[in-house]
Amino acid sequence: MAFKVFQQIRSITIIRNQSHSISNLFNNFFRHTHSHNSHFLNSKGGQSSKLLTITKRALSAEAKKKKPTNRGPIGWASLAVFMLTGGGIVAYVRYEKEEKRKAKEKEMRKSVGMAAIGGPFELVDTNGKTVTDKDFFGKWLLLYFGFCHCPDICPDQLEKLSTVVEKIDAIPNLPNVQPVFITVDPHRDTVAAVKEYIQDFHPRMVGLSGTEEQVKKACKAYRVYYSAGPKDEDEDYIVDHTIITYLIGPDGKFIEYFGQNREINEIVGSISTRMALSKKKSS
Ligand code: NI
Repeated sequence: MAFKVFQQIRSITIIRNQSHSISNLFNNFFRHTHSHNSHFLNSKGGQSSKLLTITKRALSAEAKKKKPTNRGPIGWASLAVFMLTGGGIVAYVRYEKEEKRKAKEKEMRKSVGMAAIGGPFELVDTNGKTVTDKDFFGKWLLLYFGFCHCPDICPDQLEKLSTVVEKIDAIPNLPNVQPVFITVDPHRDTVAAVKEYIQDFHPRMVGLSGTEEQVKKACKAYRVYYSAGPKDEDEDYIVDHTIITYLIGPDGKFIEYFGQNREINEIVGSISTRMALSKKKSS
């Protein structure tokens, strides 16, 4: 019976782990991997280990109360307490699961409809001019969020992005696509820093920075997670962030996202298909 309760807790825990909200899934999946093992651990086994700890704690607390003469594996009294505690946890988890499910459904409706990704933003370009999403209306955009001090992932992604842009540009009868880099590290990535940084990539790339508040708003609109890590002795730090490239249509609306591992040709194929379809629709 105790085993059965335990099994029940386990299976519910597994379900619970799967019912993370979609945005968490999204973020955990696309998050930077460098030097952030803790995030990985948190997203992997956080809840089940927490539950296990609660159960263990309940058991050991009960064991402490018992006289040391009780040498049985688990005394009857502690077994009863364990089952009660287990039952309590099961009921609580069930309740929480139901609440989570409701919240998840709501979230799903939002993100599957894709309407919730993107939206208005106000940032500063490399000429120091304030720009908004409206300034890009009429253009196909590829948005990438990152930071200039990123040691590996951002340069790789921006290089990939530049190749995609070149390939799209080379396809006749299709519009060009505008590559845009948005910093998630406004503290270090000033207008001048971004201006210098993007020179390493596509000549048409637009670099956007802004105040902490402006960047925060833009990232929130695109569901981009970012978090600056601890500073080392050189005051250097890594910013953990979501690695996604977003395709935005000429109407300013989000169309599709590309994760870190998508191949160049796959992305080019997808964008050109979208462009061709939209051309057909409008003519
Ligand atoms: Ni990066």
